[in-house]
Amino acid sequence: MRVSIFGTGYVGLVTGTCLAEVGHQVVCVDVDAAKVRGLEEGVVPIYEPGLTPMVKANHAAGRLRFTTDAADALDFGEVIFIAVGTPPDEDGSADLQYVLAVARSIGEHMQRPSVVVNKSTVPVGTADKVRAAISEALANRGIDIPFQVVSNPEFLKEGDAINDCMRPDRIVVGAQDEDAVAMMRRLYAPFNRNHDRMMTMDVRSAELTKYAANAMLATKISFMNEIANIAEKVGADVEMVRKGIGSDPRIGWHFIYPGAGYGGSCFPKDVQALTRTASQYGYQARVLDAVEAVNDAQKGHLFELMLRHYGNAEALRGKTIAVWGLAFKPNTDDMREASSRRLLAQLWEAGARVRAFDPEARDESRRIFGERSDLVLCDSADAALEGADALAVVTEWKQFRSPDFAMLKRKLSDAVVFDGRNLYEPIDVETQGLAYWGIGRGRSVKIDA
Ligand code: UDX
Repeated sequence: MRVSIFGTGYVGLVTGTCLAEVGHQVVCVDVDAAKVRGLEEGVVPIYEPGLTPMVKANHAAGRLRFTTDAADALDFGEVIFIAVGTPPDEDGSADLQYVLAVARSIGEHMQRPSVVVNKSTVPVGTADKVRAAISEALANRGIDIPFQVVSNPEFLKEGDAINDCMRPDRIVVGAQDEDAVAMMRRLYAPFNRNHDRMMTMDVRSAELTKYAANAMLATKISFMNEIANIAEKVGADVEMVRKGIGSDPRIGWHFIYPGAGYGGSCFPKDVQALTRTASQYGYQARVLDAVEAVNDAQKGHLFELMLRHYGNAEALRGKTIAVWGLAFKPNTDDMREASSRRLLAQLWEAGARVRAFDPEARDESRRIFGERSDLVLCDSADAALEGADALAVVTEWKQFRSPDFAMLKRKLSDAVVFDGRNLYEPIDVETQGLAYWGIGRGRSVKIDA
């Protein structure tokens, strides 16, 4: 099939590449000419394992191309995807300006009956707005071409996006019209061979499904962070509690890891946007309010542990803290809403210096923080420890999982580890003469080194 995708961000690029990989003809459209030129030359602007070779191979095979020309894309595609960003507005609701700009452009250039598929994460009711924007643009041209607007939310995880796209656990399609559903079935047939993963429903339910999925996952994390905070107070170990509850299949093992709070482009934004949607309809989403509040507090928790260790903020003045991990999670260079950003801001506010290492997010942190005397971006985890007083682990990259604790003890002059992702067993750290602070662990105690 011939597919046109508006937006070469995370979702658009991964979706377009995977559709080309299974044999469809794909054109990706973006308003950013430099980005389009780069992609035509195989330069992928995001870090996502496996994506660059796949873009290059499909481009070379003639199945995937990039353009800035919306007219070309409308002339080409039988299915037109909208996959542009929906950043949060000042009030937390999703900003639809990019989605609606694409919808207008689709209406301005549409040549024949089309299926328009919305893949951007959008509030319930957006399909109606997209439909209205396209109709208005068609009316301005004085023509009437039949078209369908379908909701097809994405459930990609950064760092594992290719796998999620090639082997989806579900394909949610919200559509009003049988022909549009049939079109989506043909499009997704290569991903849907062994058992039917496609779920069809009305458009509003599909739109809400995406938010409900992310809000549920965010709720599990905030719930677990709250249990961790209670565990700290009562002297229990949340890692034991996690194992104790995860073994119940109704609860499950996934997304019950306490930590320094969730970040990224989805959870924070989607929880807020769903809360806003609910309140626009006169409903106060109390669970979601709490999920967000707990997460916001949790991002400051590692610093609170530092205050407990050092006694007060004044004691942190002039200290050098090694920070391992800046990205919001491993296998990405994405630092949107990352917990590291809060920690660094708090450390700088207290007059501490930071030596940070992240395997992928160095350029991104340079872009965000610029040059500053209280930040050194290091080339390796070891380099970050040079001259440091303490270590804080913020992102659970695999390479941070088993450090040489004896070496940490030699390097860190205050001999203390703040483990924001519970990567280490307190006993392993403490037997090397280091103090250990984890999230919600009963053993988070300062020892005499
Ligand atoms: C998420 C959803 O998983 C995905 O289905 C959706 O399409 C987009 O949003 P993503 O933002 O890429 O994907 O990251 P994810 O792996 O879900 O992690 C989100 C955040 O939660 C990270 O900051 C991570 O560190 C944190 N997290 C995750 C926890 O703190 N504890 C957990 O148990 C799991």
